[in-house]
Amino acid sequence: MSERPASQPANRSEQPSLEQLVERRFSRRQLIGGALSFAAVASLPRTAAAAGVADTAKATTRTAGKSTLMFDEVDNHIRDAHQVSPGYTADVLIRWGDPTVGKDAPDFDPDRQTGAAQEKQFGAHNDFIAFMPLPRGSKNSDHGLLCVNHEYTSGELMWRGVHPVLLDAEQTKVEMAAQGHSITEIRKVDGHWTFVRGSNFNRRFTANTPIDIGGPARGHGRMKTSADPTGTRVLGTFANCCGGTTPWGTVLSAEENFQDYFAGRPGRDADLNSLRRYGLGAPGYGWARHVERFRLDRDSQEPNRFGWIVEIDPYDPTATPIKRTALGRFRHEGACVTLTSDNRVVVYSGDDQAYEYVYRFVSNGRFDPDNPRANLDLLDDGTLYVARFDASGKGEWLPLVHGQGPLTSKNGFHCQADVVIDARLAADAVGATPMDRPEDIAVHPHTGKVYVALTKNSTRSADRVDAANPRAAVPGGHILEIEPPEVDGSRDHAAQALEWNILLLAGDPNIEEHETRYHPDTSHNGWFYAPDNLEFDAKGRLWISTDQGSDQVLHGVPDGIRACDTEGEGRALTKLFFACPPGAEACGPCFTPDDKTLFVAVQHPGEGWTLDNPRTLWPDYQAGMPPRSAVVAITKDDGSVIGD
Ligand code: FEO
Ligand code: CA
Ligand code: CA
Repeated sequence: MSERPASQPANRSEQPSLEQLVERRFSRRQLIGGALSFAAVASLPRTAAAAGVADTAKATTRTAGKSTLMFDEVDNHIRDAHQVSPGYTADVLIRWGDPTVGKDAPDFDPDRQTGAAQEKQFGAHNDFIAFMPLPRGSKNSDHGLLCVNHEYTSGELMWRGVHPVLLDAEQTKVEMAAQGHSITEIRKVDGHWTFVRGSNFNRRFTANTPIDIGGPARGHGRMKTSADPTGTRVLGTFANCCGGTTPWGTVLSAEENFQDYFAGRPGRDADLNSLRRYGLGAPGYGWARHVERFRLDRDSQEPNRFGWIVEIDPYDPTATPIKRTALGRFRHEGACVTLTSDNRVVVYSGDDQAYEYVYRFVSNGRFDPDNPRANLDLLDDGTLYVARFDASGKGEWLPLVHGQGPLTSKNGFHCQADVVIDARLAADAVGATPMDRPEDIAVHPHTGKVYVALTKNSTRSADRVDAANPRAAVPGGHILEIEPPEVDGSRDHAAQALEWNILLLAGDPNIEEHETRYHPDTSHNGWFYAPDNLEFDAKGRLWISTDQGSDQVLHGVPDGIRACDTEGEGRALTKLFFACPPGAEACGPCFTPDDKTLFVAVQHPGEGWTLDNPRTLWPDYQAGMPPRSAVVAITKDDGSVIGD
């Protein structure tokens, strides 16, 4: 999602962090083997877009030698179409409004859209993608369940002549049904993917779907509302951004900008300190005009029931999703899952707002591949941590446990439920490092190193720069590399100690103030702004999606998918593989187990314009049809592994 006011800091701590008091530095080590100096990148040619050159179909640039990624780059230039590397095909698989659920799912009719229709159709603004092979437990790469988050809605691109916060009651129903998550059966037939309309697996989860509450906040007084006096079941999930998958075959969906949906003056019993810390009170949507539970004067505790990780079993069409409160409440970008060597479950998650934190959960129980029932509630019991990154290149995972350190009744934490509901306040109290908008996190499949996308922080001032966030107000963002300690030859993802480094500093290498750091061989197509989602392929190459938000117009370069090695000679040598149409960002990305299909969610084409005055009509290009977010399936024309 764009950097709207919601991305501005809510962390008002006046206390300078330790990092702010130490000398500014990029890293304790040489960056990206060969340490590219600005002088080196300054000689790179400007992109056609940055130089204001007309949109000629410029030839692709093959980077010589060092990268293991063999594809030719596409042009770093916005066009009214998506672009994919030559020799690959990107087919539109499924779009907002496509009928999926039940045999009676109605065809999309943008002039007569209703909430009831939307509940049976693919949602809006697709973000996270998981491909879950069918049957469960297989590595099938031709048949599976496409599990997709629907992050938000843009009323001005759905209807003509509307103001997004002044929608009528039916339009609000459409919005509430268009967010959440979807499960859709898909198949690859004759090399092309299609979705199975009316499959029994197909489901939609919306802002009205009943969802259970698990973990330490379940049943706590602060989770109770007039509609749910037990505090155990909530209506809906929305603002679902990125996510993750578990080894036991479930999907984790991250509730991110939940604060945008609540409005009104909080009631007298409201916990104002908590509401403020989560940035409530500045709604971006008009849902509270039509649905009482979004009014803070009626239900000031309803927001406590959002901002969680939701676990969904896509293989069981009857399963009720569960909000896993042990993982903490914040603007969860995603949920990156890995295992310790003794099979405890580790979930990394960023809190996407300026000056917020990077978190980690470690389960107490162990994943047992031979006993699926034993895995069902692993995410309800464990320890939540938050990261501190020291200028020395070391750091620590700080436990957020009631009764430990400052997390006591004296400071307002009366039990673990208070700690997880107010995870931000708990993280403030233990001295976590405020970061440049933590987005997605990925673990390298072979090295066990952890990569964190820090998309940017336009509000970071020079006096708040620190070693792990080394630039003030640069729109580029960066990617942090965390090295858990090695124990008996494997990374210990449960250790409290960590070491960290910076993989790259993004931005335009032609602009000196951006102080970018890429591999010296990075082409004029390969650099980028604002890393968002991260995904590794089986060979350990990092695929990076970008989200410049409204800065895309200013920068003149497309959002899309870049890829690079993180080890060896091609470390941080990013290459542009896929470029989005105007106004869109790339999300997902997600590989099939054989790495022969890459799914990419093209989100909000035409954002920044309106349906009255659209910038693009991607992907249909039909009069009367709005621009629609859609998932594309990318395959190599010779059928081999993507990137090879
Ligand atoms: Fe929804 Fe942090 O991007
Ligand atoms: Ca995004
Ligand atoms: Ca994101």
